[in-house]
Amino acid sequence: MCGIFGYVAHKKTNAVEECLKGLQALEYRGYDSAGLAGIKQGKIHFYKRVGKVRNLKELVFEEEVALEIGIAHTRWATHGGLTEQNAHPQLDSSHSLALIHNGIIENYQEIRFNLMNLGKEFVSETDTEVISQLLAYEYTDFAFIPSLVRTLEQLEGSFAIACIHKDFPDAIFASARDCPLIIAKCKKTDDIFISSDANALSRQDMELIFLHDGEIAQISAGIITLYDKKGLIIQKAFESISLCSKSSSKEGFEHFMLKEIFDQPLSLSQVIKNRFDSHTAKVQIHECKDLGQIEHIRLIGCGTSYHAGLLVSSIFEEMLQIETSAEIASEFRYKDPILRKNSLVIAISQSGETADTLAALRLAKSKGAKTLGFGNVMHSSLFREADLFIDLKAGPEVSVCSTKAFTSQIASLLLFALYLKQTIKGVDVALDTTFFHHLESLSGIVTDVLQQKDLIRSFAEKYADYENFFFIGRNLMYPTSMEAALKLKEISYINATAYPAGELKHGPIALIDETIPTIAFLGNEKTLSKTFSNLTEIQARKGKILALSPRHFTKITTITNDVIWLQNDLPDFFSAIPYSVAAQLLAYYIAKKRGKEIDQPRNLAKAVTVE
Ligand code: F6R
Repeated sequence: MCGIFGYVAHKKTNAVEECLKGLQALEYRGYDSAGLAGIKQGKIHFYKRVGKVRNLKELVFEEEVALEIGIAHTRWATHGGLTEQNAHPQLDSSHSLALIHNGIIENYQEIRFNLMNLGKEFVSETDTEVISQLLAYEYTDFAFIPSLVRTLEQLEGSFAIACIHKDFPDAIFASARDCPLIIAKCKKTDDIFISSDANALSRQDMELIFLHDGEIAQISAGIITLYDKKGLIIQKAFESISLCSKSSSKEGFEHFMLKEIFDQPLSLSQVIKNRFDSHTAKVQIHECKDLGQIEHIRLIGCGTSYHAGLLVSSIFEEMLQIETSAEIASEFRYKDPILRKNSLVIAISQSGETADTLAALRLAKSKGAKTLGFGNVMHSSLFREADLFIDLKAGPEVSVCSTKAFTSQIASLLLFALYLKQTIKGVDVALDTTFFHHLESLSGIVTDVLQQKDLIRSFAEKYADYENFFFIGRNLMYPTSMEAALKLKEISYINATAYPAGELKHGPIALIDETIPTIAFLGNEKTLSKTFSNLTEIQARKGKILALSPRHFTKITTITNDVIWLQNDLPDFFSAIPYSVAAQLLAYYIAKKRGKEIDQPRNLAKAVTVE
């Protein structure tokens, strides 16, 4: 989603190169246009292009652009279509300032209307231009900070901004309200960077300041001055944090998605190694204390992270005998959920920046619940805002389509359930040797699935031309099928609907014919024969079936020859992991056959920072 980057060198230099590098590091988030602006000889210069950063790069190289300071942006369209006019930076009418922005200004239409009545003319459809025009209108007497304060006070919503003004040719101004924005100073060079994403700052030894609650920063060569939202000077200490660099290499794989699917034996073994001591057979979660009184649990998240929560919610309830439910964060936050101080709200988020998940977390905190974040990005907003945080340690996930984060979420959450069993229920989980045996075998089982890639690819090629699919499963295989359908939808743009297998006969079966294949998930022993019966109903109506089945269930060949055979001696708790990996490969190869842009699918973003 949108990304902000800015650069002020300690010693005068051309800022363009650093800004382009910053934009490239933000690319993985998903975006559809890019732009940058800077000051040269007291004048604002700006450049924008629809499409990839490389288009912008070509433009600035062609024009041999040199700028003394720079702000740069990747835009994911929200207000207004995909045009150069709507790309950031947005300027005021007299081109005295340029501004870039993440987030949404909820009252932008009212402000725009008022400014138009005052004679301002707008060139874009964006809420960002409203900030630029308002700021220019408020600006008087070379007093930039007071005018910025007056402007920000009028804005509703959550946002981060960075801007430059021709009267302050050596400064960048930045502010953030409920949206991440980091100021980083390089310890070696004193160069200062601004970014909405720590991943764009991972290249050097940095000291960081995180802006919160409408704080404002004025940044010029080697100097950062901070103000609170009222414009009063404040002091904030740097945080010395070592940022891990987001791997920019596909390590020989054609796409990041494929690399990340193949990372899973390792990422899963990392989860297990970090949380489970195989000598004592104890789960160790140092980050969590004071959970002894928990009486009910809510798991919240969006998209894939919600699926992980939904999947483990029934396992938590069964294992802990504690009421547990999973909810989509964007729905949860508009309810009036019953939460008490003995409620535990677990927010699951790969990026730790998903706006709806963070808003739901804040609601839970305001109602007195204990909050725990399960995230893959240290120092993300989730890390900073949740009472407790568990690092998934899945390693950087670059492809927009989440794969290894999902399986690490499941494995970590399962271990966390065991940890709660130990701490709340006082059960000696070390006695459950079968559980730990299976846990430790997961990496090998996933490797076994990956070894079937050629077979899965051949099924993908066979099914790639269908435009509609059903994905079905029962019990834990239902959330598994939801996640699998999501993978197919997002990277191949095929309509895939997930249903609990038992629900088909209550309506959707009306759609079944030879044009809509069903992908069936049979990894749940408890419901195997029932799912089989549902499949016979599909077969009777000429529906094609591709089954993901345990090896022992040879009966499946009586209704279909298209079978991906998977491990059969795994408890239902764990099956979602290998079945999901097979489904990830299937989605990947279908998208590849259809020639889609796999790592950055259209309209999607890696971190969804708008609500
Ligand atoms: C799907 C996908 C999304 C994310 C969702 C939440 O492959 O990646 O559905 O799972 O946007 O993102 P996080 O986990 O970062 O909160």
